[in-house]
Amino acid sequence: MTWQDDYTARLFGIFGVPLRLLVRGEGPWVWDESGNRYLDLLGGIAVNVLGHAHPDVVAALGRQAATLGHVSNFFTSPPQLELARRLLELSDAPPGSKVLLVNSGSEANESAIKLALRHRPRGRIVALESAFHGRTLGALSLTWKPAYREPFEPLPGRVTFVPPGDLNALDAALDGEVAALFVEAIQGEAGVRPLDAAYLRAARTLTHERGALLVVDEVQTGAGRTGEWFAHTAARIVPDVVTMAKGLGGGFPIGAVIGYGPAADLLGPGQHGTTFGGNPLAAATALAVVDAALPLLGHVGELGAWWRGELERVPGVVEVRGRGLLIAVEIDRPSAPVQRALLDAGYITNNVTPTAIRLAPPYILDREQAAAFTSALAAVLGQIEPTATA
Ligand SMILES: Cc1ncc(COP(=O)(O)O)c(C=O)c1O
Repeated sequence: MTWQDDYTARLFGIFGVPLRLLVRGEGPWVWDESGNRYLDLLGGIAVNVLGHAHPDVVAALGRQAATLGHVSNFFTSPPQLELARRLLELSDAPPGSKVLLVNSGSEANESAIKLALRHRPRGRIVALESAFHGRTLGALSLTWKPAYREPFEPLPGRVTFVPPGDLNALDAALDGEVAALFVEAIQGEAGVRPLDAAYLRAARTLTHERGALLVVDEVQTGAGRTGEWFAHTAARIVPDVVTMAKGLGGGFPIGAVIGYGPAADLLGPGQHGTTFGGNPLAAATALAVVDAALPLLGHVGELGAWWRGELERVPGVVEVRGRGLLIAVEIDRPSAPVQRALLDAGYITNNVTPTAIRLAPPYILDREQAAAFTSALAAVLGQIEPTATA
């Protein structure tokens, strides 16, 4: 039995057949079971911010596992208290702000939906077309893609979608019944599509005026991915709620909800819960990730800006979007065969849309590695016809 047969026989068929069987990672590199090495430019989809097997993370996880791995939320632990303190400090949150620790991006958004419904009971939620907020039923109800939503309708919650960037549509949708507006500062799954700073600022003003919470989903963009801790701070807005996950644990599953000011007190005792959320293993790992990632954020911004300039000059590239190390390379041909050829050449990327390749590499990536990819992309685009089918 091949590993592909093994996988297909025993795991739910929701992800298709995996591209490779990976057995080991170190820094920005991973190896498959045949010993082939790949430069991991996707980082587990914007997760492995420090690459693989980072020594600080390995040490923190091992230390905590040997000290105290899990306690129920009837108890707290030093890493949990310290992580909450660090996250609030990094969020520049006003006094009274608080943190909820969870396990994933979807769970963070589920929790934010509950905050919204406590803020304005039975209120509607406004989300943006092309948005991705997760696959659990509440988060799915805010996710735009019909193929993801339709098999599960009717979904919970009353949601109105508006086109991103259209202020008139937002103004009309934000009536007095709206509990919250959910936005991503950069729509990652939509193909790394940044929202205008002016739009985000207007969204902040309108939600204030109409009494709706502004929830910023930083699941993909947070934890330094754009060269700043959060992507939304570039627009100089202060949200009511921020959700995060992915990069925060550097590969260990953890998510967080930050309630700014009064939003932190919307859920009372017994109104929410989680067994694993914020357990000592997750919190200690996230603390190690935060400590090691923060000094790299200047590099993330600089490398990303330089790399985007290089990628723009590759024949066949029509646009390069993104900030820091969250990048989409829009090409003049189907992206699937290009992604496959890049993988065969030793580069892990993702065909995030039918015509775009996404890069979300570890922050430890260096210029030489980035440049090697640029050359590989040029070579692949030189070999694959623009008319190739996906
Ligand atoms: C912006 C955004 N929100 C939420 C999610 C869902 O996160 P998770 O897969 O951890 O549930 C994702 C995952 O891709 C995301 O990109």
